[in-house]
Amino acid sequence: MTTATNEPAQSWIALRKLAADRANATIARLFQEDPSRGPRLQLSHAGLTLDFSKNTADQAVFQALAALLEDSRTQSAMRALKEGEPLNNTEHRSALHTAIRAALAGESAPWGQQLVEQHHRAMRFADRLHRGAARGYAGTTITDVVNIGIGGSDLGPRLVTSALESYCKGACRIHFVSSLDDRELAGVLAGLRPADTLFLVSSKSFGTEETLCNAHAAMDWFRRGSGRSDLGNHFAALTGNAEPAVALGISDQQIFDVPDGVGGRYSIWSSSGLAAMIALGSEGFSDFLAGAHAMDQNASCGDLTGNMAAVLAALEIWHSNLLDYRSAAVIPYSYSLRLLPAYLQQLVMESNGKSCDRSGQALQLTSAPVVWGTAGTEGQHSYHQLLHQGTQVVPVDFILPLRGPSPDRTRRLASHCLAQSKALMEGKSQRAAYEELLAQGMPPAQAQQLAPHKAMPGNRPSNTLLMDALTPATLGALIALYEHKTFFTSVVWNINPFDQWGVELGKQLSKAIYATFSGDDHRRYDSSTDALLQAIQAQLQ
Ligand code: F6P
Repeated sequence: MTTATNEPAQSWIALRKLAADRANATIARLFQEDPSRGPRLQLSHAGLTLDFSKNTADQAVFQALAALLEDSRTQSAMRALKEGEPLNNTEHRSALHTAIRAALAGESAPWGQQLVEQHHRAMRFADRLHRGAARGYAGTTITDVVNIGIGGSDLGPRLVTSALESYCKGACRIHFVSSLDDRELAGVLAGLRPADTLFLVSSKSFGTEETLCNAHAAMDWFRRGSGRSDLGNHFAALTGNAEPAVALGISDQQIFDVPDGVGGRYSIWSSSGLAAMIALGSEGFSDFLAGAHAMDQNASCGDLTGNMAAVLAALEIWHSNLLDYRSAAVIPYSYSLRLLPAYLQQLVMESNGKSCDRSGQALQLTSAPVVWGTAGTEGQHSYHQLLHQGTQVVPVDFILPLRGPSPDRTRRLASHCLAQSKALMEGKSQRAAYEELLAQGMPPAQAQQLAPHKAMPGNRPSNTLLMDALTPATLGALIALYEHKTFFTSVVWNINPFDQWGVELGKQLSKAIYATFSGDDHRRYDSSTDALLQAIQAQLQ
């Protein structure tokens, strides 16, 4: 693979030259020069249509970016991913999310048989709950499922169940608890009865503080409310570490394995997705997997001009490394997709928020952008001001499902979505603002003063992703698209996207600080932390 430090010099040199030559290029001019740019720079696959025309990249830039991806051997990396090679080199593991999808689609894949068996076991369990056939200790139907997890053990099933609410027609309501603040769990439990409730304790490591605190509290609640000491079939664990789950009292019949090679942020496809399986039923969940697999096939396409994930990766590199844009917004014009930005934050930033390459050398290039966003149109009434007139350029991915809300609301959402991308691209010159004000009858001196405030620089890039409809299959394809985009950029930067060592130090420190509160640890920190600790301690006494 290419290293960012030992970079494929020719493609980077060519790209840097192209970026310098295009310092004054505008997207609007690219459209003037090529009236067919819009339809020409569109790709459709698996129910998604990507319009990537509203970017400053022209033909030569796309060619140079394709050469960079080729030199970086993104396609052989993709093959290695699918074949389950141990790409997670710091943890000596594979990354099996695509292998799961391939195995379930009937392709022969290493570990295939084992993955398929585990998957079918989870699906059978999920289907009983989905059909309302699962009963609790009192003989009544289980009607409520509480997923207790955090990070990848929460964000995936939470996104899927909220995005596909209209497909979640099973017998169970699904709830999520991730917060260490115990009010979230209390709020969920307030509406539930122990006899009708199943808790899914979802933690790949089974060592995550937030999840274990909530699991203990849920067990206390269950035992108090049911008057029973054993947890019966009211608790299940989704984990790669069964031992502590069994030690907590969870029956091994109720433990679903999360394979070692499935990382948290890639785990929705495995048993960690059990809450989503219960909500969708095996049929709906299979469609979700099939949609992702369809995108896997597109991501394996060697012709980078037809490969949606490669195009998105190429543009992220253009933006981050050649134009120095440091953040990227994801704005779904869909209430159903409101949790997508949070999901993508973990996917992109935990995967590629790294400063050294696979061999430990310091990166010479900027890695992952800061990813942020909310559902539209809400953002238009808050942060879009910065998108349009702020001093930094933030590339945007607009995402628009075409069926879901009523046709009129869909048209309204679409109108705003298209208006935003057009306004970002074209902006408004000071001259145009001035003339507009004059036409409204404003005296010239006043118009002169106001015009700079109304001018918008434009030339702000965006992609638009249309989804035929928001279905299990298109959502699967959408998530897989971003997984592969993240993977391709990691390959170009020569990052290991499957570890997350950066989260460990904070965990260690918080343990020690917590011990200080209870008087079990007397170490001193820096003067700021010590003073804050004392202030908090004084308040809590
Ligand atoms: O702390 C980060 C992290 O390890 C994520 O990568 C992971 O998704 C999350 O915590 C939860 O981990 P677990 O599933 O092991 O509880």
